[in-house]
Amino acid sequence: MARLIVVSNRVAVPSGDSQAGGLAVAVRSLLKRHGGLWFGWSGTVSADEDAATRTIQRGDMSYVVTDLVEADYQEYYNGFANRVLWPILHYRLDLAEFSRRDLSGYRRVNAHFANELNNLLQPDDVIWVHDYHLIPLAKMLRDRGHSNRIGYFLHVPFPPPEILTALPNHEWLIPQLSAYDLVGFQTENDATNFARYLENECKLQKRGEFSYQTPERTVRVGVFPIGIETHEFSRLARRSVRSPLVRGVLDSLAGRAMMIGVDRLDYSKGLAQRMDAFERFLAVYPDWRGKVTYLQITPKSRSEIQEYAEMERTISEAAGRINGAYGEIAWTPIRYVNRAYSRSVLAGLFRSARAGLVTPLRDGMNLVAKEYIAAQDPEDPGVLILSRFAGAAAECTAALLVNPYDPETVATSISHALSMPLEERRTRHQALFQVISDNDLNSWGEHFLAVLTKDAAMPPWPERLGLAPTIPARLA
Ligand code: G6P
Repeated sequence: MARLIVVSNRVAVPSGDSQAGGLAVAVRSLLKRHGGLWFGWSGTVSADEDAATRTIQRGDMSYVVTDLVEADYQEYYNGFANRVLWPILHYRLDLAEFSRRDLSGYRRVNAHFANELNNLLQPDDVIWVHDYHLIPLAKMLRDRGHSNRIGYFLHVPFPPPEILTALPNHEWLIPQLSAYDLVGFQTENDATNFARYLENECKLQKRGEFSYQTPERTVRVGVFPIGIETHEFSRLARRSVRSPLVRGVLDSLAGRAMMIGVDRLDYSKGLAQRMDAFERFLAVYPDWRGKVTYLQITPKSRSEIQEYAEMERTISEAAGRINGAYGEIAWTPIRYVNRAYSRSVLAGLFRSARAGLVTPLRDGMNLVAKEYIAAQDPEDPGVLILSRFAGAAAECTAALLVNPYDPETVATSISHALSMPLEERRTRHQALFQVISDNDLNSWGEHFLAVLTKDAAMPPWPERLGLAPTIPARLA
């Protein structure tokens, strides 16, 4: 394959003290194999309008990064990307705050990315653009004369046209996705919503099951559920469970069962509803009081946006209220922590937790769900409680699937998880582990690139691929 150019809002340039997250590892391994570079925002907000785009070399890897100035950061990142697109793509029209100024900042930064790439691109480079920050990028590159193969992957959900058309200027923004050669989604549901948008709003003609014809090109639409580095994460968990930090946490539980949740502090994660469900659980199943500790790790995120700042208060108040009502001097029901921990510590904590709570109100995939599965001891695994509204639910049907809006059933599932017999836990875990091994992060990346570059036959969407296991008959 020709050179690969990966483009995303954030670029994970390795530094001494940072540990690469899942996607960063995958991008690096794709770039190692195919050669190329990773382009995007440096993460720095600079006062200098003319701050140069620079190349950072780490071994044989090239990262090309550009700064944002304060107005870009406010209008493009905090503004249109995270105050408009993020809520709407997560079905939260009530939280979207549209302004024309933010939209023009979003266009400006995308045009800046296109101009910088314009200086770097060679005619046969293959370009892979990631996520909602960069929807118009392909069209802007086409306008600058580039006819390269360009693929796009949306990491977050794609809502039905009935929701998306409430976005002011959607008729400018969304059709620009048809400037890509391949548009990939996490689930069949997302891809179907996009197909409906193309048919109903853009009146595009369907060419085959997975493609649409525009005057310029054939746009293919695919489902590529993202995975994790399954075997590597399992190994990490086995090692980390013996580390002093994880052992210290276990000792501090004094033999109590642990439940765990790990989420960025974001309204899409359903944290308030999860706290309510845990409170319900303590009320309805009093035998569990004093016997289980719920550890919720929630690093702060996007704190300059009002909804996020308000959530910080709401969630810590809920944790305090529940601890005040149910706690005892020797038992705190919820340990709520706003710090970020390394992948290795999280892996060890996941392995030590009898239940994993992953209950977003809406999520593109949710890799914490997959990491929790990978981290378990197959001989004595914990139980995953998973929202039916996470993309992961399409594949992870052997988890305890719940409606996060219904605290009663989540409370019942917590009790079910904590008292589940070993045999049922093993059967469920085996089915889940199979799914995340068959479709790991590496096969996700290679699969996307194969379809983008080789015109490989579009693979059937995952449900038809048999990736989604059916619940073993005995558990159904
Ligand atoms: C989601 C998005 C990513 C984003 C991440 C963290 O997973 O899909 O594109 O990078 O959240 O959000 P942040 O705003 O901190 O980059």
